Amino acid sequence: MRLAKHGDEGSGRFEVVCFGALNVDRLYKVNRIAGADEESYITGFTECPGGSAANTAVGLARLGVKTGYIGKVAKDREGTLLLEAFRCEGVDTGGVVISERGRSGVVMGYVDTEGERALYVDPGVNDLLDPDEVKVEYAAGAEFLHLTSFIGDRPFEAQKRLVEALPDVKVTLDPGALYARRGFEALKPIVERCYALLLNEAELKLLTGIEGYVEGAKFLMDEGVDVVAVKLGGRGCYVTDGTEEHLIKPYIVDVVDTTGAGDAFNAGFLYGLVRNKTLKMCGLLGNYTASRCIMKAGARNGLPRLRELPSRFR
Ligand SMILES: Nc1ncnc2c1ncn2[C@@H]1O[C@H](COP(=O)(O)OP(=O)(O)OP(=O)(O)O)[C@@H](O)[C@H]1O
Ligand SMILES: [Mg+2]
Repeated sequence: MRLAKHGDEGSGRFEVVCFGALNVDRLYKVNRIAGADEESYITGFTECPGGSAANTAVGLARLGVKTGYIGKVAKDREGTLLLEAFRCEGVDTGGVVISERGRSGVVMGYVDTEGERALYVDPGVNDLLDPDEVKVEYAAGAEFLHLTSFIGDRPFEAQKRLVEALPDVKVTLDPGALYARRGFEALKPIVERCYALLLNEAELKLLTGIEGYVEGAKFLMDEGVDVVAVKLGGRGCYVTDGTEEHLIKPYIVDVVDTTGAGDAFNAGFLYGLVRNKTLKMCGLLGNYTASRCIMKAGARNGLPRLRELPSRFR
């Protein structure tokens, strides 16, 4: 184990450390999505920093939570964009490995006039994150370690190794479809260490094979998870810790763009956990931050700042 760098000393530097793929999201508007051997044209373009855990990290930092990040970028324009966004938001980048070679992760999205989309993910150096590159001491002393998915096996191994090396850190996981699809047995080493699992209904079914979120959540709690939050889109969320359960209605807002709703929910929910709120309040906070997110285009633009939180949530 390496010694902490100057400035790293002391535990409890972070309340939450997030660990997941870092991607630049490139969104192309197209006349229509091209099939094989077809040609379409681009009518518009936007680019912004993304990645599920990264969006959540930004949401947490805006709410005043001391947040760090573990991930990997390359020394390219995209890597600079991703790191700069973190610095502007006050997310610590000391856990991000900067690769001399390769390219940073990119997600290319093609959206047609009907709003249908096709996505291509280029994981780039995300999938080259080696277990040995992750500094255990960076996350040691954090209260929570929040994990989201990678495509490749190497970073998945790195996450399992880190979880194992940090028995005192509370682990939260949003598996997304990518990890849920790996199935319960593959995810077990992380799931059984999970304090909280945050996922949507489809992912819960993929992960557990169980129909119905109440039963699915119960299965996960029997496997050692303390808290399960099931995101139900326009129906809000279901949260339970085995003793209490709450089905919480969403905030009714004008929906502009649901990109990043799940990541925003995670930020609100985790903020609640970090500030020792009740389970119900955590669910309300998740719904609230998600509702602010979907009122604006993009995954990060609507994420609220602490001063914008209604006083009942602070
Ligand atoms: N139409 C809506 N109105 C109000 N709130 C919504 C709406 N859609 C989503 N939300 C809020 O966003 C939260 C997360 O959305 P969703 O359940 O779609 O998660 P997800 O599938 O993980 O999303 P993502 O695709 O961003 O990962 C919901 O639990 C809810 O609080
Ligand atoms: Mg999600």
